[in-house]
Amino acid sequence: MKRAVYPGTFDPITLGHLDIIKRATTIFDEVIVAVAKRPSKSVLFSFAERLKIVERAVKNLKKVKIEGFSGLVVEFAKKKKASCIIRGLRLLSDFEYEFQMALTNRKIAPQIETIFLMAHQEYSYISSSLVKEAVFLGANLKELLPKPAWVALKRKINEGFSR
Ligand code: COA
Repeated sequence: MKRAVYPGTFDPITLGHLDIIKRATTIFDEVIVAVAKRPSKSVLFSFAERLKIVERAVKNLKKVKIEGFSGLVVEFAKKKKASCIIRGLRLLSDFEYEFQMALTNRKIAPQIETIFLMAHQEYSYISSSLVKEAVFLGANLKELLPKPAWVALKRKINEGFSR
């Protein structure tokens, strides 16, 4: 069984993430979407909310599991008997950060390989923060988010969340 972990903050999951997940399922028997419990950046959605949105967004994908994790991602991958970590590469600007992370992870756990998938050209310019900011300011970016993420984001706005 070839298993991979796709870690991230997913605040919230976008169609760019979903595209990476779908493509990863064509390579691996099982893909664990690993939602970071306590990411280093500040988040809009709580861990429980981010997990639920991801669960809803991938519910029709058979080879996909969703789990939360804290601590080192490579330790999580080892615990889950996954051989690879998947990351999406969008623009050249992602490269430095991703390269540093992959090499650090390799130093800690050489047996875990990092595999980069190129983000789909339609989504290669988006990020969760950009989508959140634009939607808060009134943009309709429905076509960049899976429905559960769009609904949750609109609900946050309607609840009067202020940044
Ligand atoms: N399409 C659209 N957007 C994408 C994308 C894609 N294919 N791939 C990445 N992004 C965006 C995300 O929307 C996110 O945008 P944001 O910064 O505006 O929120 C950004 O790129 C990166 O997010 P994500 O892919 O979710 O990763 P992350 O950088 O938030 O997550 C962890 C980093 C959690 C994987 C990493 O910090 C980690 O492994 N932490 C665990 C602790 C650890 O092991 N540390 C040592 C690592 S060396």
